Amino acid sequence: MEKMICNNLSINSAGHLTLGGADTVALANKYGTPLYIMDEDRIRERCRTYKTSMARAFGDKSYPLFASKAASFKQIYRIIMEEGLGTDLVSSGELYTATSVGFPLAKAYFHSNNKTDADIAYAIDRGVGYFVVDNVEELDAIDKIAGDKNVKQKILLRLTPGIDPHTYEAVTTGKVDSKFGSAIETGQAEQIAKYATELSNIVLYGFHCHVGSQVFDSDVFLRASEIMLDFIALMSKKYGFVTRELDLGGGYGVRYLDSDPEIDIAENIAKVGTHVKAYCHKLGIDMPEIRMEPGRSIVADAGLTLYTAGTVKRIPGYKNYVSVDGGMADNPRYALYRSPYTVCLANRMDSTAPTFNCTLAGRCCESGDLIQENVTLPADIKRGDMIAVLTTGAYNYSMASNYNRLPKPPIVMVKDGKEYIAVKRESLEDICKNDI
Ligand code: LLP
Repeated sequence: MEKMICNNLSINSAGHLTLGGADTVALANKYGTPLYIMDEDRIRERCRTYKTSMARAFGDKSYPLFASKAASFKQIYRIIMEEGLGTDLVSSGELYTATSVGFPLAKAYFHSNNKTDADIAYAIDRGVGYFVVDNVEELDAIDKIAGDKNVKQKILLRLTPGIDPHTYEAVTTGKVDSKFGSAIETGQAEQIAKYATELSNIVLYGFHCHVGSQVFDSDVFLRASEIMLDFIALMSKKYGFVTRELDLGGGYGVRYLDSDPEIDIAENIAKVGTHVKAYCHKLGIDMPEIRMEPGRSIVADAGLTLYTAGTVKRIPGYKNYVSVDGGMADNPRYALYRSPYTVCLANRMDSTAPTFNCTLAGRCCESGDLIQENVTLPADIKRGDMIAVLTTGAYNYSMASNYNRLPKPPIVMVKDGKEYIAVKRESLEDICKNDI
């Protein structure tokens, strides 16, 4: 049971890995591999935890936004819509996907450090609730385009509080030298905030920060909220500006390995709530409505990927490889970030203690196409075995590509132990559908 890093995983009497009560091997046999499987019940459970904890900690008007860059496809927007979450979007593509299932855009926050004029116009036309504005050029562009369309556009300003969340560099975003947002420390945040209040087609609702991703240190949100509330107090004292919303971003970490700690989201949010209330009181300001933007922690451990093992290559005195029928095209995270994953033999979870140390390699024509190194599998691993990579529900499908013209795998959702297809497998025709 050492590999059971989330309680939605188990082993059935056939020795097969199950997710959300469904036999993953049976699903692989039915739908083929590579295959993404996602547990809808787990996604809903996480949505509810965030929603109720935030309402309890910050009041009824505060709610979570699902950061849909973690997993963007129609069914996800249906689920989070039913659960009453808002969403954080970063492109016209995500916005289109959300609107195509009737997602209420009043609760959509459009991010990105470089929204194009076309993005801005499209989002305003569709009635996006808010832009989270990154910089002055963008603020001017939104003011102009909103003016042309006779719209008073709500915005938050993205600020960098200057915090290092001690996570891996590629997902750190809150430091002063970040490409995102305006720094409080340099005075640019104050300048842009003051300027935003003077623009006639912009309605400044408040401020946003996101310090990083895969954050385990619970202090990070406490420190970030203090810095943001200090700024809010400054805006109030100096300009009489009333901040209606404070968005603290996303970032809570998830368990990729047994050794990763488990974050108690409800307890963490309660702590942030107590802290924010007390700090507002100390500063003499009203507590704004709070938003948080969890992505990974809503979907990551709801998902896993199944592959069929192919070549098992032993290079005596050097290393061993097990190659699978997917790779960096469906999961680029090891190639990009050296991200750890738990790997297991889904069709023989009951086999004797794993002793075969190997590198789990993808099928792309590239040495860097690895899913994980230093994996231990049973010594009799062979072609045709079923390999599961756990905790792939976030930033896998959404970061997938067609490199080497590999079709993207389908997403099969499991609800109450029964499965349905949420995203179909791409066909070979799909791959060249835009080729002339
Ligand atoms: N809000 C903003 C403004 C963000 O930039 C992000 C993530 C989130 C919320 C959600 O963070 P989460 O709760 O998922 O940690 N591709 C990388 C992760 C990039 C994160 C980008 N921003 C990975 O695979 O680890």
